[in-house]
Amino acid sequence: MSSPRGYTIAVLAGDGIGPEVVAEARKAAEAAAARFGFGLSWVDYDLGADRWLRTGEALPDAVLEELRDADAILLGAVGRPDVPSGVLERGLLLRLRFELDLYVNFRPVKLYPGVASPLADVKPDDIDLLVVRENTEGVYVGAGGTVHRGGPAEAATETSIETRAGVDRVLRFAAAKARERAGRLTLVHKTNVLVHAGDLWQRAAGEVAAEAGVVLDYAHADAACLYLVTDPGRFDVIVTDNLFGDILTDLGAAIAGGLGTAASANLNPTSSPSLFEPVHGSAPDIAGTGRANPVAAVLSVSLLLDHLGEREAAAAVEAGAVAALPGAAGYSTQALGDRIATAVAGGGSPD
Ligand code: IPM
Ligand code: MN
Repeated sequence: MSSPRGYTIAVLAGDGIGPEVVAEARKAAEAAAARFGFGLSWVDYDLGADRWLRTGEALPDAVLEELRDADAILLGAVGRPDVPSGVLERGLLLRLRFELDLYVNFRPVKLYPGVASPLADVKPDDIDLLVVRENTEGVYVGAGGTVHRGGPAEAATETSIETRAGVDRVLRFAAAKARERAGRLTLVHKTNVLVHAGDLWQRAAGEVAAEAGVVLDYAHADAACLYLVTDPGRFDVIVTDNLFGDILTDLGAAIAGGLGTAASANLNPTSSPSLFEPVHGSAPDIAGTGRANPVAAVLSVSLLLDHLGEREAAAAVEAGAVAALPGAAGYSTQALGDRIATAVAGGGSPD
């Protein structure tokens, strides 16, 4: 704790409940910084619906260039009903994932004590898995188009692109995570229908798992949805393509008690900066009511600190969030954030 460590965090609070939950996540991070002796400097960027409506810009090139110099990016949520669907999703969030080459979307699925799962008879230990979602390829690349739009002959294509290099690198990350845990990796795909991409993923997964010395399991995406509900304990680390990962992680969030606690990291494991965001969206229906749960954003900050190498701080932030969870629904966004920050600062429980 003697050498001063300092990090620059770019903040894209965004729309809806984004700014509300990010404010609480920052408090937790500041409490951890004070306790563990490092510094955080925050740089706010006003990207999101307002900026787009005002200027037509989702992510100006000059801002993208500035973001490259940050140590990490914290994002709240983007999207609002008065902006057409896809504009901010593609123009801001997906553009950041692609331009910064954040090829791992890392999403823990964990049922914390005191949180109710909609599944009957599950205890916290029964749901504790990681989803490693490929984050730069698949249908998300935007390859495709429309012809004869609006006419009877209209046709649209949305081409999924998978590369061996792209698949290999995310598999390697997932296999390394599996080695740190139970030594078991489950590939989720749909090889019985998507025979081309499925074949590529399956061969690559076999080779990477063998190289890493982990056991490789396989589940079709539809079956994986069923197992997540009937037998979530069968999974430890899941690796999957971009779209399957998007769908599976909403289901994962649901079985672990909802989007209020689901955190995510968009990582480039070898170059800075990576981007951290709650899995939830901007929830315009509850924006401004003080009912948003800040825990997913706080847990995203825990992933951020861990990625920066501040392991003790990351653990303290996670512990602070977890300690505040039982009965969390009775507190406002801000009151819950204060309880978490107090726990992080003092190392005790919030009560
Ligand atoms: C997510 C979101 C995004 C995705 C949207 C907002 C583009 O659903 O992070 O899971 O599809 O990846
Ligand atoms: Mn999603």
